[in-house]
Amino acid sequence: MKLVLASGNSGKLRELDALLAPLGFTLLPQNTLGVPEADEPHPTFVENALTKARHAARQTGLPSLADDSGLCVAALHGAPGVHSARYAPENSIEHRIEHRDQRNNHHLIANLHGIHDRTAWYYCVLVLMRHAHDPQPLIAEGVWHGEIIDIPRGQHGFGYDAHFFLPAQGKTAAELDPVEKNRLSHRAMALHQLVARLQEQSMP
Ligand code: IMP
Repeated sequence: MKLVLASGNSGKLRELDALLAPLGFTLLPQNTLGVPEADEPHPTFVENALTKARHAARQTGLPSLADDSGLCVAALHGAPGVHSARYAPENSIEHRIEHRDQRNNHHLIANLHGIHDRTAWYYCVLVLMRHAHDPQPLIAEGVWHGEIIDIPRGQHGFGYDAHFFLPAQGKTAAELDPVEKNRLSHRAMALHQLVARLQEQSMP
């Protein structure tokens, strides 16, 4: 079965494809079908993922898969949250992604100055819609718990990974081998939950 992926991100395509291909799904990134990116105007991850999935299904007439993810920090009441990609106020979409990440990290550490509680988690939600009017989309979530550290460590990953410390591994997410990150991450957890749901029920 063909599924349109409501993202043009090749990393996500690789990760999702590896688990969904054995179940008989062929993922088609929406940009290859001429679908423009949908806005993400909502205050919750799940609303944004639903909007993206509905947009892709409506535009293509195919079932669709969308994700939304970000970093949440307890002492900041869940921020950066849905604004993770553009947390630093001086960031704009024209800036290179590495520079945006660097500014986001500075902003995060500045906002946590003097705060003792560094509890944080990465969150990912995946939404699968059979069609644009699907009243019962499949929704799967993953949460990856860690702590924010002031001094960055590690060269792998992206975003906030060098400041996201995992006590169980004694490493930041940026110090993990990419294969290990893909096994442990919020995205991996959400994907495994989605696959379990798909195996429980057949797609009409
Ligand atoms: P998106 O869902 O891929 O657009 O991710 C939104 C933003 O959340 C990213 O730009 C990052 O700032 C942050 N984020 C999501 N997942 C990760 C991750 O695995 N590592 C680091 N940052 C992440």
